[in-house]
Amino acid sequence: MGHNDDSKRDDADDRQLFRREFLENCRIRQGVYSFVEQDCDFYEGHYKNRTKYLPKLDRWPYTLPLWLINSGYLWTVRRHVPEGSRVLELGCASGVAYFGQRYRMMGLDLSLSSLEGVVQDYERCIQASVMEGLPFNDGVLDAVVSSFFWEHLDEAGKRQLGSELRRVLKPGGKVIFLYDIETNNPMIRHFKAQDEILYRRQFLEGDGHIGYHSSAKNEEIFLDAGFVILNRCGFEKTLLQSPSAYTKLKRWPGSSKRWFGALEYVAKGWRLYPYTLLMRLLNASVDRLLPREWARIERVVLMKPKGPRSVGGGRTAG
Ligand SMILES: C[S@@+](CC[C@H](N)C(=O)[O-])C[C@H]1O[C@@H](n2cnc3c(N)ncnc32)[C@H](O)[C@@H]1O
Repeated sequence: MGHNDDSKRDDADDRQLFRREFLENCRIRQGVYSFVEQDCDFYEGHYKNRTKYLPKLDRWPYTLPLWLINSGYLWTVRRHVPEGSRVLELGCASGVAYFGQRYRMMGLDLSLSSLEGVVQDYERCIQASVMEGLPFNDGVLDAVVSSFFWEHLDEAGKRQLGSELRRVLKPGGKVIFLYDIETNNPMIRHFKAQDEILYRRQFLEGDGHIGYHSSAKNEEIFLDAGFVILNRCGFEKTLLQSPSAYTKLKRWPGSSKRWFGALEYVAKGWRLYPYTLLMRLLNASVDRLLPREWARIERVVLMKPKGPRSVGGGRTAG
């Protein structure tokens, strides 16, 4: 792994992969391909999340934690993307160790210091903004994946990235995204109605979430970009939420601090493991019966059609 030491760069592979105009303006900084003129004040060093889990063997039961982590996002990527594929992770921060082991992996993020945390695991780390277009040639990627990145783009940004994804993927290539959505979850709706400004500050502005859209709006964007939706799954439709949601809800006045503080306690430390298992089981059972709009998080699996683009964009499979 780790082609990121400048001496180990494979120039022929770089030329096959990257657009010439990007490569000409590329700097190598700490082993990272940098396509930005200057670091971004908001995102530089802001997120350094890293998913460390590596199964001892790539089979059951060692792979069970992949089903538990991040609402089964790693599990879904493993299921839809074969080993050895050329995969790009957008907004990767400090990456997913398992992806580095399984794929010819590339990570793209705005933050150089976040990428430094994954330079050893991924074949290539790229500092760039997706808003400047993806630096890749047409049809060179098997899959593009991301967790909690999509909601950092506004609608225009999502549409622009959608057409770039279609360009850089091979026919039949996959997109697997996990992201926050604008939710109608009764509990969140209650607190939002109580103090809309606080809701915006906690759930949107502090994190750079400029793209909280409904599930239906996101679907429209994916279909307009010409993707087929193979699978869509909503999470956190009930009172049971990730600890980060409780940390935010704790800030509401009244008895919220006590209640959400208690829930946050239940979902932290070693207790996070049984709590996560409970949430995943709930998602596989009760959540399926609840309305789509109640989800706070969504995961989609998209496919670039193998044939020429049909009039009116993509469609939902099945
Ligand atoms: C919430 S973090 C997600 C990190 C990681 N994927 C995870 O699941 O924990 C969002 C990441 O997207 C990156 N990001 C935001 N806007 C971006 C853009 N326009 N281009 C590239 N990366 C961006 C940020 O630097 C940040 O690392």
